[in-house]
Amino acid sequence: METMDSRIEVLRADIQQCRKCSLYETRHHALVGNGAENARIMLIGEAPGAEEDQQGIVFIGKAGQMLDKILMACNFSRDKHLFITNIVRCRPPGNRPPKDEEIAACLPYLERQIELINPSILITLGATALRSLAGGTSRITRDRGKWQYYGTRLMMPTYHPAALLRNPGLKKETWEDFKEVIRKYREMADPGHPCNYV
Ligand code: URA
Repeated sequence: METMDSRIEVLRADIQQCRKCSLYETRHHALVGNGAENARIMLIGEAPGAEEDQQGIVFIGKAGQMLDKILMACNFSRDKHLFITNIVRCRPPGNRPPKDEEIAACLPYLERQIELINPSILITLGATALRSLAGGTSRITRDRGKWQYYGTRLMMPTYHPAALLRNPGLKKETWEDFKEVIRKYREMADPGHPCNYV
């Protein structure tokens, strides 16, 4: 019988063996994502960096450390509340942005993963994730902080943590966006979710 666990395992194997674009030639790991497989919140970044490619774990480099500070302030734990993944599962060489054809090849994995994990809230981190899910006319500076729908699910676009490292002036707006997520999470999943700031 096909169970949820077996479907997750099949997806994992499909991602790890993927050769749908040329990024497989240079990768060390194809990243499935990390977190709780029943998470109510899914965070979606762009693509693995060097550190993530080496270790096979999402968001563990400098941008990941910035993300962890935000998540800690929200009282969201990677193991319990979140599943974190990327639009593209293999590292683009030299950290260039993923190409349209790489995004198109990889996106069906995310679609399957969203169906399986079934989160209520999606958070897109940066322009690539936003455009990949909401369409090419999206603009991160214009659209961040505003709820939109991805199918039946709520989606909050915000800045990528790497952008906050380059431009600390974006931290304030990003924190406003995450506070919105905490409010919505309380509404949809856990009214008692503790957070000192909201
Ligand atoms: N940047 C991303 O978008 N994803 C990662 O996993 C790491 C850095």
